[in-house]
Amino acid sequence: MPGSKEIKVPRVAFHTLGCKVNYADTEALAGVFRQEGFQVVDSQEEADVYVINTCTVTHVGDRKSRQVIRRTKRRHPGAMIVAVGCYSQVAPQELASIEEVDLVWGTRERHRLPQAIKEKVGKRVAVRPFFADTREERQVFLDHLPWDRQQERTRAFIKIQEGCQEYCSYCIVPYARGPVRSLALEKALEAAEKIVAAGYKEIVLTGVHLGKYGSDFGTFDLVQLLAEMVKIEGLFRIRLSSLEPGDITQELVQLIKNNGKVCRHLHIPLQSGDDNILKKMNRPYSASHFVMLADYLKEQLPGVALTSDIMVGFPGEGEEEFLHTKEIVREVAFARLHVFKYSPRKNTPAASFPQQVPAVQKEKRSKEMIALGKELEARYRRSLQGKMVTVLFESKEGNYLEGLTEQYVKTRVYAPDASRGEVWLVKLVQDKKDYFVGEIINPLRK
Ligand code: 5AD
Repeated sequence: MPGSKEIKVPRVAFHTLGCKVNYADTEALAGVFRQEGFQVVDSQEEADVYVINTCTVTHVGDRKSRQVIRRTKRRHPGAMIVAVGCYSQVAPQELASIEEVDLVWGTRERHRLPQAIKEKVGKRVAVRPFFADTREERQVFLDHLPWDRQQERTRAFIKIQEGCQEYCSYCIVPYARGPVRSLALEKALEAAEKIVAAGYKEIVLTGVHLGKYGSDFGTFDLVQLLAEMVKIEGLFRIRLSSLEPGDITQELVQLIKNNGKVCRHLHIPLQSGDDNILKKMNRPYSASHFVMLADYLKEQLPGVALTSDIMVGFPGEGEEEFLHTKEIVREVAFARLHVFKYSPRKNTPAASFPQQVPAVQKEKRSKEMIALGKELEARYRRSLQGKMVTVLFESKEGNYLEGLTEQYVKTRVYAPDASRGEVWLVKLVQDKKDYFVGEIINPLRK
């Protein structure tokens, strides 16, 4: 129109800290911003708004979140800085007191954020507690699924569940994420179908407490969803992000056993191998129960990669308790470990438990546990040597393709005829630590 002013499309960039769920949230948030007329750009580029999706699971998450906020403002002094996510939800005032922050937005009502920015709300805190939500309000964010635009077009994350009500004594997540909410079964399936139609071959199902999927509805559960999802033609693999020991039912194991589509890779947080510590953590299982579960999984699902989270330095953990954890970790022979040093979180019961462990001890045990994890990882990788596996290629450089096996092992092969997004049968021939060298055998699906 002659004479009309050129309308500037606002640019937004995202930075994500923390877990896979947070990454899935950022994807969804980016989708909402696009719908609202924003152009989403890379975090290195110039933008009008930078959204920092924060993490608060430990004090390290807090610190890194603050660092990213400050650094982003330093690099882009004219831009608006918005802090969203878990840290914002539990400590809004703390973030608002950082000079570089223009707006603090929690984990709720994220779909309203673009509108709030457009209305130029100015510096303020807009975090509401969870208990104010109606059922509809709770669902709304889950319904914004980013199936249109995820990177690579090989593997897509779908967040099917939000929140946790377990209240482990160390954990801040229930306060940051609220109660259990699930994406309705039909909606989850619809999302999966759209994702597959868009060309993705692998779906990663994520959630804050994934095993509780459907429990808020009471009419469906994770096994039912999987049983339907495996029927989707063109979908090659489904990966589950993290499952609590108590959520691994016989039905789930049998489904994985009888259907090759669900990856034989299960991440099951053990946290501690000492029964007293587990009790104090409010974890509802014993060390021997965990070992039995692991034995059952290994027997039913040969070759399964079991990975875990271990926490060292929980209040009351002495040398003996730590030794118990090392024994159990060794017995289960995890394929990979994520080691966390206990970090007291405000208003969680464990923060005021007696017998807090000094930082030097935590550091020492963490190093030891990481070393044990590496040793077991190397052992697991030796068991893969010479095996035939399927690899979904995610990237190509020259004639070399790289991708992941079902067990989440990075594999590189010389394959001039193969492309990204294809699945090939590969023989694992040499362990290079960061990745396996594979030899290509056959294409499974182009
Ligand atoms: N301190 C240290 N690690 C923690 N985690 C959760 N809360 C804390 C805390 N307060 C770890 C647990 C969990 C993982 C996602 O984060 O190991 O499994």
